[in-house]
Amino acid sequence: MKIVHVVGARPNFMKVAPTLDALAEHDAVEQLLIHTGQHYDHELSAAHVADLDMPEPDYYLEVGSGTHAVQTAGILTAIEPVLEREEPDAVLVAGDTNTALAAALAAAKLRLPVVHLEAGLRSRDRTMPEEHNRVITDHIADLLLTTSADADRNLVSEGIAADRIVLVGNTMIDSLRKYEERARELDLARREFGVEDHVLVTLHRPSLVDDEAAFGEVIETLEDLARTRSILFPVHPRTQRMLEGARLRPRALRLIPPQSYVRFLSLLVRAAAVVTDSGGLQEETTALGIPCFTLRANTERPVTISEGTNHLLGIGPGALERLRALLDVPRDPSPRIPPLWDGAAAQRAADAILRRYRRPEGATARFLVHGA
Ligand code: UD1
Repeated sequence: MKIVHVVGARPNFMKVAPTLDALAEHDAVEQLLIHTGQHYDHELSAAHVADLDMPEPDYYLEVGSGTHAVQTAGILTAIEPVLEREEPDAVLVAGDTNTALAAALAAAKLRLPVVHLEAGLRSRDRTMPEEHNRVITDHIADLLLTTSADADRNLVSEGIAADRIVLVGNTMIDSLRKYEERARELDLARREFGVEDHVLVTLHRPSLVDDEAAFGEVIETLEDLARTRSILFPVHPRTQRMLEGARLRPRALRLIPPQSYVRFLSLLVRAAAVVTDSGGLQEETTALGIPCFTLRANTERPVTISEGTNHLLGIGPGALERLRALLDVPRDPSPRIPPLWDGAAAQRAADAILRRYRRPEGATARFLVHGA
């Protein structure tokens, strides 16, 4: 049985790495890793691959940046011949990036079964590029592996057959648990940046950082809060460009370069609170019991609010007022963690993949999607 895993952007690596490991336990499984090159900066890509002990990619497609159409088309064109040559039994994609959408589409058109890891999340906000990626990827996937029961309900309500959906839990939390201790011992916040009980900030969504006025207000508020609290802000390249373009030069707020996986985790595990517009961080803070303040109008991860530590603040001046009011509220001493976010999700994902795509004894031909 041959499985191709496709990664390319930062949030893909920590979801796919544990799944690769879990499938590697099975001798009958051959695995290949394709990196699309959507992210190519060392800290966004190679440093994560190394930190997560992933194998070197078998194929690196060097697609790089561009408009959504250019990037998606680049991945489609570059990945198609690789999939044709390799003829895998299934192609695994993760999350809601352009990499996931394009790889899934190329595979589906070749009638190769697509496994979507982290299926079924919905923000119901079609102004988010990721929402299109989620919906389309789910509807062309053959096996949909979900992180929470609300995702299953979303998929069923959209007409996806229940027997193609398997609730496996959150493989990103598998990575977190695997490297948590190492990250804690590294103690980067104190050792390298000289701070304790810090607030960790990440902001990179176009809907926030590309709006100069709104982003300027966020920076002003964070700068003000940073006069009394230590705030560390690893800056995504898009956000860096915006800061430079708008000539924003905060002084109290500590801007630092993007961090590799374990270094970032080290800053996270010792944070007193997180302010973010990231999807993954809403989940990681929930797993760690750290209060998370999300500067977005909606979330595709409602379980982090109902069963976690996430506060959806919205965007705009009201959101910043809520942030000021809530930032110092004491931490919940016994936070809940969603079911199956237990560090063993990838094992369940591997089992689901094996159940569906294992070749019958003696068979050499691969399965085609939906029994075609
Ligand atoms: C992508 C994902 C987003 C995810 C984020 C994590 C999509 C649609 N979006 O957004 O869901 O939360 O990754 O980072 O897939 N750039 C660099 N170096 C790089 C990569 C990008 O400088 O290695 C700059 C380029 O100017 C590029 C911009 O960042 O145009 C945006 O990169 P892109 O991959 O298009 O999307 P992200 O904003 O990173």
